[in-house]
Amino acid sequence: MKKQTDKSEGTMTKRLLRVLAGEPVSPPPVWLMRQAGRYLPEYRAVRARVADFIALATTPELAAEVTLQPLRRYGMDAAILFSDILMLPWALGQGLEYRAGEGPVLPPVRDAAAVAALDPGRVTGVLMPIMETVRRVRAEVGDATLIGFAGSPFTVACYMVEGGGSRDFAATRGMAYGEPAVFRRLLELLTEATVGYLSAQISAGAEAVMLFDSWAGILPPTLFRAHVVAPTARIVAALQERHPGVPVIGFPRLAGMLIGEYARETNVQAVGLDTAADPALAATLVPAGVALQGNLDPLALVGGGAGMAAETRGIIAALRGRPHIFNLGHGIVPETPPEHVARLVELVRSA
Ligand code: CP3
Repeated sequence: MKKQTDKSEGTMTKRLLRVLAGEPVSPPPVWLMRQAGRYLPEYRAVRARVADFIALATTPELAAEVTLQPLRRYGMDAAILFSDILMLPWALGQGLEYRAGEGPVLPPVRDAAAVAALDPGRVTGVLMPIMETVRRVRAEVGDATLIGFAGSPFTVACYMVEGGGSRDFAATRGMAYGEPAVFRRLLELLTEATVGYLSAQISAGAEAVMLFDSWAGILPPTLFRAHVVAPTARIVAALQERHPGVPVIGFPRLAGMLIGEYARETNVQAVGLDTAADPALAATLVPAGVALQGNLDPLALVGGGAGMAAETRGIIAALRGRPHIFNLGHGIVPETPPEHVARLVELVRSA
């Protein structure tokens, strides 16, 4: 992969984009999954002005404001668009409600008729406000990088089939085995829609995109290849064709020892490591030019102090010399003290 050495060359002076182009940068750039959210008082203040999460995500002025809050407070190297992976099923016409304390609730998609009722023709129009958010944020990010995102088809299907969150997504796995043609049709539809959705985000100003595959690790290797690797490879190929040079970060959470195969077969520019991944081992499994992103335990960030410092230094040391983006191994939890995030950014910057 081409390395960027001339710092005068436009956007490639952005630290995070240099890492995504395969260049080790020290200290590593840093941002945190779910960095905009309930742990921040300024987020809760904006959230209180609207009735629900969907209203927040589809009001560009407010969504842009909460996207930028963690940058103002901490000087993160990236802004991640404020939205949710379930905005796509919502745009496809599946109902969606976020209930306090319960998480997302959707009418389950369990058969061919429910899949056929989803309407890809609505997506572009319904998600227009999100593209306006992207444009507004891009105009304000300065030296930080704006990351767009979507859920991976498999993880989005998990919530669509189950009708919400679940400990084991038994109905989804049941459909994958018992109704393979219906499940494949759903994943195909989501793969197509995701290409269009991410492509629109890039056209509106996203400089990199991330695919969140939070439940990739619940599948056996055969189904992981069919439902995680194959759709991701198709999305990456389609995006590279439409937007050459715009990097894709894949996050196949809990993929374990399949992470090297995932990186090679999908052609992502970076792989997100979950909390359970050993960074030194991951570095041997994933090809050298592919960046690694992660992977501090979000609970170490809640704890703070010496434990957090030791974990942080260990991760950075294990990945020194590799293209590395410092991040968590999963999203920030609402209990996180905001001052621990400031301390973490300081630790990374002085590493
Ligand atoms: O700051 C950011 O990272 C950008 C915004 C973002 C949200 N969700 C906002 C959100 C991103 C990137 C996501 C991704 C997402 N959403 C994932 C993948 C990552 C992961 O955590 O595994 C998943 C599985 C979802 C689905 C989802 N959305 C759930 C399960 C929930 C309920 C649990 C919770 O944390 O509340 C949501 C709601 C949600 N998405 C909130 C936020 C800020 C909280 C709702 C609120 O503030 O009212």
